[in-house]
Amino acid sequence: MAVPNLSVVKDAVNWPQVQTASFVAGCGMNVPERVVDNNHFASYLETTDEWIRERTGIAERRWSAPEVCASELAEPAAREAIAHAGLTIADIDAIIVATVTPDYSFPSTACLLQRRLGSVCGLAFDLNAVCSGFVYALVTADALIASGQCRNALVVGVDIYSYIINPKDRGTCILFGDGAGAVVLSAAAPAGNPGGASRWASGSAGALRGIYASELGADGNGANLLYVPNGTASRPTPESYAAGEHFLRMDGREVFKVAVRRLCDISEKVLARAGIAVGQVDYFITHQANKRIVLSMAKHLGVDESKVLVNIHKYGNTSAASIPMLLAESAAEGKIKHGDLLLVTAFGGGFTWGGVLLRW
Ligand SMILES: CC(C)(COP(=O)(O)OP(=O)(O)OC[C@H]1O[C@@H](n2cnc3c(N)ncnc32)[C@H](O)[C@@H]1OP(=O)(O)O)[C@@H](O)C(=O)NCCC(=O)NCCS
Repeated sequence: MAVPNLSVVKDAVNWPQVQTASFVAGCGMNVPERVVDNNHFASYLETTDEWIRERTGIAERRWSAPEVCASELAEPAAREAIAHAGLTIADIDAIIVATVTPDYSFPSTACLLQRRLGSVCGLAFDLNAVCSGFVYALVTADALIASGQCRNALVVGVDIYSYIINPKDRGTCILFGDGAGAVVLSAAAPAGNPGGASRWASGSAGALRGIYASELGADGNGANLLYVPNGTASRPTPESYAAGEHFLRMDGREVFKVAVRRLCDISEKVLARAGIAVGQVDYFITHQANKRIVLSMAKHLGVDESKVLVNIHKYGNTSAASIPMLLAESAAEGKIKHGDLLLVTAFGGGFTWGGVLLRW
């Protein structure tokens, strides 16, 4: 496939001319039906609803039934995103799934999702950057589109943490929920692209929807502060399973500090790369790990809380799914509209982090 022409755009906030390869053409989400409120934990652990709400902002989360796998949870989100983009499955020529709770070790959840969707064309692969997975996948899809590999990429974040949390560890089991979110990232060049026509943002003269700047980072020295010891470095035995040694482990206090610092750094870097001020961003879409992490970041950046979108109270930390779920829910509720400038940032195990500035 030929490399698409990158659009040269003049932005409404008086930017210099910028090039964008892709834009978000559609979004969708899906969560399990089962609601698990904080009293579930208070019924068998030394914790309370009040403590969990105050320290995390979480009131409830959704957990999947044990027989549900990641590709199954992702499928409705993917179908919704494709329909929202005004496309059909036949238009999708790439599937990237960010997850750390795949259906199997292999084949990839992306291939299994491709099969569920009845798609036969294009590339498909999984990507593991833990809670930063969706941002990593978005940046990867943008680069694949820019290189001409594909035109309409389905970018999915899905995780089923109810499968990997230790129900007896009050410092971690209260935090996580299950969910799936998806976006369709489409080539900006309108030729041959069914979504291209909707790219012009009404209400913001001259502003084009699209990804304007991004940056990713990682520091493997943080690996032992947040991890799941179940793999070739830590081979499970019947005894280790019985002792729950294969479940997620975290030093919450340390992770909290690093998360705030990295989210602030990456926000500043992406804004600097785009050459715009923090005050020009309409909404901040940050990985929903802990409400206090998100608000600490906002305070440090000097951002009004009204610009920081939050839905952690309903879903907890859904890892790779949290950002596409927040995007899909905010769009459906009319909180974010075409033309809004969004700063999307994430931090996760690894450690990994990333940021994307885009016009919705
Ligand atoms: C886990 C987290 C909520 C704990 O909150 P915190 O305010 O940092 O609490 P601390 O870890 O300092 O612990 C304070 C006390 O609360 C206790 N505690 C921990 N979980 C508790 C719970 N569910 N209920 C009641 N008490 C709890 C701790 O044992 C500790 O008790 P101690 O002082 O007797 O040792 C918080 O550290 C956090 O959110 N960290 C980041 C987690 C995260 O986002 N991870 C994913 C990144 S993508």
